[in-house]
Amino acid sequence: MTLKNHHETPGRSLLMMIFGGTGDLTHRKLLPAMYHLIAEGRLPEECSVISIGRRDLTEAEYREQARASVKEHSRSGVDEQHMERFLSKLHYKRMEFISDPGSYAEFREWLEKNESLYKAPAVRLFFLAVAPEFFGLIVQRLRQNQLIVKRNPDHRVMIEKPFGSDLASARELNATITEALDEKQVYRIDHYLGKEMIRNILAIRFGNSIFEPLWNHHYIDNIQITSAETLGVEGRGAYYEQSGILKDMLQNHLLQILALITMEPPADLMPESIRDEKVKALRALRRYEPVGVCAGIAMGQYGPGTSLGKPVPGYRVEPDVAPDSTVPTYIALRASVDNFRWGGVPIYIRAGKRLDRRRTQIVIEFKRLPGVNYYQEFREQPPNLLVIEVQPAEGMYFQINAKKPGNEFRMNQVELNYSQNIRFQGNVPEAYEQLILEAFRANSSLFTRWDELEQSWQFVESVEQMCAEGGQAFPNYAAGSRGPARADRLLHEEGREWREIDLPESARNH
Ligand SMILES: NC(=O)c1ccc[n+]([C@@H]2O[C@H](COP(=O)([O-])OP(=O)(O)OC[C@H]3O[C@@H](n4cnc5c(N)ncnc54)[C@H](OP(=O)(O)O)[C@@H]3O)[C@@H](O)[C@H]2O)c1
Repeated sequence: MTLKNHHETPGRSLLMMIFGGTGDLTHRKLLPAMYHLIAEGRLPEECSVISIGRRDLTEAEYREQARASVKEHSRSGVDEQHMERFLSKLHYKRMEFISDPGSYAEFREWLEKNESLYKAPAVRLFFLAVAPEFFGLIVQRLRQNQLIVKRNPDHRVMIEKPFGSDLASARELNATITEALDEKQVYRIDHYLGKEMIRNILAIRFGNSIFEPLWNHHYIDNIQITSAETLGVEGRGAYYEQSGILKDMLQNHLLQILALITMEPPADLMPESIRDEKVKALRALRRYEPVGVCAGIAMGQYGPGTSLGKPVPGYRVEPDVAPDSTVPTYIALRASVDNFRWGGVPIYIRAGKRLDRRRTQIVIEFKRLPGVNYYQEFREQPPNLLVIEVQPAEGMYFQINAKKPGNEFRMNQVELNYSQNIRFQGNVPEAYEQLILEAFRANSSLFTRWDELEQSWQFVESVEQMCAEGGQAFPNYAAGSRGPARADRLLHEEGREWREIDLPESARNH
């Protein structure tokens, strides 16, 4: 399925400018993504990558660093010829983009000179891989120095998360950005939207006649969205103290998944049609009343424990974390989308760090069969489950009930499995490859529109307000465990359980 009808950017060259070119994200994700896009011929021949940083590096030195990073982080082996071609298109520009406003005009001169060497008109794609407090200022300066011109669709800015630290700061940032740019020029990144199985949700839902007729409260008992990590905060304690699990995972990735799973079928697959439906679903997401008892929500913070066979410290002793921190590293909650399709269907969401496994999984649990008297054999059968695994395996699993072989009429569960990793070995692009390519193609469906973000922030703030007092005593789960016991109780009290489905072992080799 190709998304049609968006502004396709045909016959354009590309100038990709990375602000924060010496940073962690650039080296681990962006440079490997650009290598693959260039090596696989998915970008025009007329294409340059310009990394912008304040370190005193020559272009040759920067290219050598980039070579090492791509080798270390690329999703498959590196071909030397492709590497040379990639490096020949890679440039390093030194610039102090905060304390030296004059450097922008200098940069524009350099850029215009290089742009004029290209035959095809260029798309200027600015990727802001810098600390969030700089987003607004950089965009303003780009506009003031005509590096971007408002309403020019070929001038685009990709902005990393987090977009604001609460609703008020997100609104403020948005006001600054939309003063300089049209909404259509802004590509707010939620890298989950670039993940293959997340993109697949549309195809699975709307490309099969068997699911959509059942995709409602008549046939679905509950939906579960899980994002479990084995890692702790990995040296990013200062960032995590500000964000916690709510802002790191819930506000963006998990609510985006919820929107894709629960939205109505869009009129067509144009980006705005998809985003219109997503925002309607988020608007229907019930806010919590600020009653302060944290009902229907389990928060957690990890203490010391054993992760993947090694002893690991608790959150409170991680570097840059307060010894009495009350920042949650785990959350489980019951959400409701109050509309005709989903009324009464609980949507359970959970996410956490330092858990016993790494897994992002969506489970659609269908209603059980009615207990019919004359079909005794079919009574008490487990429900049908549709499982979409986003990572580490990428695939789908459908659990049905069938007859066990033999003379007796006995039932057992069987699974229909699809492993994308096995069928398309090594050919699955990483999220950032998809995001950069789609931003070049002006396909904004993989990026979050402002109104989606605004709705998400409202929901997250309602969670925070509700749990502001009377929260749970931390730490309340051991590193390497399944998370706080309260998360299990949340479902048990409603006669349900978290579904933890292992896709076939072979799919996990990736
Ligand atoms: N890292 C990740 O995995 C990840 C994941 C999701 C989102 N993000 C987001 O991506 C953004 C970048 O994260 P990061 O981890 O890559 O950060 P980082 O490693 O701290 O990199 C920041 C970059 O900005 C540069 N910089 C800072 N101040 C500057 C100035 N005044 N003038 C010129 N350059 C300046 C730094 O240059 P120096 O090298 O000279 O310090 C560095 O290249 C953040 O918004 C973060 O929230 C990161």
